[in-house]
Amino acid sequence: MSESRARRPLAPRRDEPPVIGSAVAFGRDPFAFYEDLAAYGDVVRFSMANYDMATVLHPACIEQVLVDDFGSFRKPKSMVDMSVLSEGLLLTDGERWRAQRTLLQPMFYRERVATYAETMGEYAARAVDEWVRQGELDVKEAMSTYTLRVLGTTLLGVDTDEHQAAVRAGAEAIRERTSENPVTVQIPEWVPTPANRRFRRGVDAFRDAIDDLVDERDGGGDDLLSLLLDAEYEDGTAPSESEVRSQLMTFLFAGHETSALALTWIVYELGRKPAVADALRAEVDTVVDGEHATLADLPDLTYTEQVVREALRRYPPAAAMFRETREDVAVGGYRIPEGTFVTVPQFHVHRDERWWDDPGTFDPDRWAGVEDVPGDRPDYSYFPFGGGPRHCIGMRFALLELQLALATFAKRFAVRHDHDDVGVDLGATFHPGSPIRARFEPR
Ligand code: HEM
Repeated sequence: MSESRARRPLAPRRDEPPVIGSAVAFGRDPFAFYEDLAAYGDVVRFSMANYDMATVLHPACIEQVLVDDFGSFRKPKSMVDMSVLSEGLLLTDGERWRAQRTLLQPMFYRERVATYAETMGEYAARAVDEWVRQGELDVKEAMSTYTLRVLGTTLLGVDTDEHQAAVRAGAEAIRERTSENPVTVQIPEWVPTPANRRFRRGVDAFRDAIDDLVDERDGGGDDLLSLLLDAEYEDGTAPSESEVRSQLMTFLFAGHETSALALTWIVYELGRKPAVADALRAEVDTVVDGEHATLADLPDLTYTEQVVREALRRYPPAAAMFRETREDVAVGGYRIPEGTFVTVPQFHVHRDERWWDDPGTFDPDRWAGVEDVPGDRPDYSYFPFGGGPRHCIGMRFALLELQLALATFAKRFAVRHDHDDVGVDLGATFHPGSPIRARFEPR
């Protein structure tokens, strides 16, 4: 149960202009804005237009929100109203969420995920060959093509190649939408603003692609799509057609964009930090024997794992998580009122100098010899996959994919680019501020 609520003082509130609240300050520089919030303490209230908001910045408070007082929070209504994903695992709540999570969890058991390793490695090798031929390319696009292919084949049992453009347009529309602040998300989808029209176009293309993928499937497999189509919940109901569609969109979106971003930032750093690239190469040259990295190589790919961990710290693909209080909640000694939109920002906590030395530097060596993440820091000073009952269902899948892909890439190419600082487009995801263009040269 949460700390006794009634007697707690309200959490401190940021000094901000009336009406508009903190919307402008956040929009101007989200990193500086959260630094400013942190000056008020570890639990801070603020507002954006008519939204009452709060953030939690201390690992113990974050654990309370995600784990101990899980039941006092739900996904924010303004996000759940995003029609395309509303019936999928990321946004459902209560009993429906629990039933979906129970149904889908077996797809992500350790033994099951291990069976995807061969495809992850093989597709990485194939992708590199294509990139070398292409010359300079947009890294995020290239990585998205790779992660989407892997996801389609391993989890969904479909070939996404023909539908890449539509799925990516849909994912981009959703990314744009979830990257806006809650003030703009609030404008209903049917209002024909330019942003809403763009969103609709992207999502319609995505929906058509999903319908085609469902029609094209062979049937009878043991992939996620077959599982959904044949499912029956404990209460005897089955997922409706719109739920199946929403679920597929959820997995296509959540499962490819995040991993693609992690790989993109890694390639960016490899091009900037020759010492990291050299250390990685030295490791894969001794460990990886064949065309691509395999499951058997993993225990020896320790530096590769350090690079992945550091990328997820410095560039957390899910930049922040969002909740809404169902009731008054006491967190870190303060009261957060019912109906408050609460942010849990990885992008800020992963750089907090209380837990991280020189946090702005990409330094895989900080993970050397650290077996139990996050090492001697408090739990939830590092939480790229969230935590508690709603932690990322695809975590094992993602970690396996990132390590196999990275080891395979490092074995087969050297990356070259001229970027100094691409900046960050920070929303729900940690996105490069401008496209990262690079050349992949065979080794
Ligand atoms: C580096 C890659 C990834 C990162 C950093 C990441 C991060 C996260 C985070 C932080 C959450 C929690 C959201 C919240 O509590 O509000 C989450 C949930 C989720 N992720 Fe991931 N994710 C990654 C890869 C994947 C993959 C590969 C899949 C699917 C194959 C996936 C599917 C999902 C789903 C469906 C949820 C919702 C789970 C629930 O609410 O029960 N993610 N992810």
